[in-house]
Amino acid sequence: MDVMEIRRPETMERITTPELAQAFIDEQIALIKEQVGDGKVLLALSGGVDSSVVAALLIKAIGQQLVCVHVNHGLLRKGEPEQVIKVFRDEMNADLVYVDAVDRFLDKLAGVTDPEEKRHIIGSEFIDVFADEARKLDGIQFLAQGTIWPDILESEAGIKAHHNAGGLPEDLQFELVEPVRILFKDEVRVVGKQLGLPDNMVYRQPFPGPGLGVRCPGAITRDRLEAVRESDAILREEFSKNGLEGKVWQYFTVVPDFKSTGIKDGKRTFDWPCIIRAINTTDVVEVTVEHLDPALIDHIVKRITTEVPGINRVLFDYTPKPPATVEYE
Ligand code: XMP
Repeated sequence: MDVMEIRRPETMERITTPELAQAFIDEQIALIKEQVGDGKVLLALSGGVDSSVVAALLIKAIGQQLVCVHVNHGLLRKGEPEQVIKVFRDEMNADLVYVDAVDRFLDKLAGVTDPEEKRHIIGSEFIDVFADEARKLDGIQFLAQGTIWPDILESEAGIKAHHNAGGLPEDLQFELVEPVRILFKDEVRVVGKQLGLPDNMVYRQPFPGPGLGVRCPGAITRDRLEAVRESDAILREEFSKNGLEGKVWQYFTVVPDFKSTGIKDGKRTFDWPCIIRAINTTDVVEVTVEHLDPALIDHIVKRITTEVPGINRVLFDYTPKPPATVEYE
């Protein structure tokens, strides 16, 4: 059967236990083997939950017949490219192509201030980089994707156009392999856990496709992007240490493109502020703000202002959605 015709059976039990996850894994491994035979499969592996679970499933099913391409566009969070390499290449022995496209993306984005243009550059550059890598490989017949069931429902309802494959150029048309397409997000996580992926990969908070690019408002500069990355890493570390990881729906930092006066070691500074956003939601349509413990706020402010170069002030965004969206661009 054509993969695009596969639908979630209405009677399918929600996958909530390791046993149900294992049954799903066994079933998918058989289906993947049947579909792919001795063919080769390509996968864009971002390190997000869906593509990571697809990679782990395919590695179990077909091992070295899978080629994973991880594109580092310079807008990933601290430690993410390293984790993808460690988990998939070192621990799972995957055939992983790591593409350092940091300069390529940041050079294209230099001086671009319009949010929609930034998103467009990031999206189309990603396809170009991925297509370049795909053309270097011989004998690829299949493209694996982390499409999940809500993606199908939303695209059928005309809410979002989802299929990444639609963006690939004419000369690169592959048969799709979509082993998690009938799963809901919570089920993908249970399956990922059963496949042995680390918790911080399986239970990670949502992260937008354009990455830290939308958290560095206006024209992205390398120094301000680094300030976003470092402050985000501190915030994540403190949330993890203080039991907030997995409890607060999404939390991140933004470093806007303006400076203010401060003082450090008795000398005047003129640096950026860092904005902290921590929110909860069930549907992302309406969002409330997480009110943090004042002692934790003090500690995070202290760490960010002392450890992150270029930051002399920390601000908290206490605005729900609506009227504010979650991301700044
Ligand atoms: P907004 O800013 O629209 O964000 O209130 C709602 C949720 O969606 C995430 N988000 C994105 N996710 N690509 C994505 O994959 C994007 O371009 C994008 N923009 C926003 C955002 O992080 C939040 O969880």
